[in-house]
Amino acid sequence: MVKKTTSPNLSRRDFTKIVMTFLGSIMGAMVGLPIIGFIVSPALKTQELDDWISLGAFDGYPIGTPTLFSFTRSKVNGWERTTSSYGAYVLRKTESELKVYSNVCTHLSCRVKWDEDAHAFLCPCHDARFDINGAILYGPPPRPMDRYEFKIEEGNILIHLTGE
Ligand code: FES
Repeated sequence: MVKKTTSPNLSRRDFTKIVMTFLGSIMGAMVGLPIIGFIVSPALKTQELDDWISLGAFDGYPIGTPTLFSFTRSKVNGWERTTSSYGAYVLRKTESELKVYSNVCTHLSCRVKWDEDAHAFLCPCHDARFDINGAILYGPPPRPMDRYEFKIEEGNILIHLTGE
């Protein structure tokens, strides 16, 4: 009795199927991967904040009184676009001496406000006070008011804004 065995060789039809599946997969990857990359890549990008912001003319600020300059900045993280507001207190101490403070409290990031009567920056959240030089008078803040790095170009004050 002769036993019938199956041939280890592929039929032409099976071979064609394997080759067509392989070529189809490669073509699908060639078309699909760039599309997936195009869709996903914005989510992987984060925008670093590193900019010089103009606060206007140095001469436009009064001497001896901290003056608030408010501005907003937008940044893009992936598909998310956020707009943040900032405040900088510009203090011209003399004709040539300048300091620029952030209006964000160093305790828990509430916004401080210059109070002319108290002659101090007041934080409404936990009743902190800073003097005109940004030093702590009392309250829970762990450090004095933060300062912006600044430069003066062609009579305009520019502050350096950094962060994520
Ligand atoms: S946030 Fe300013 S004192 Fe707490």
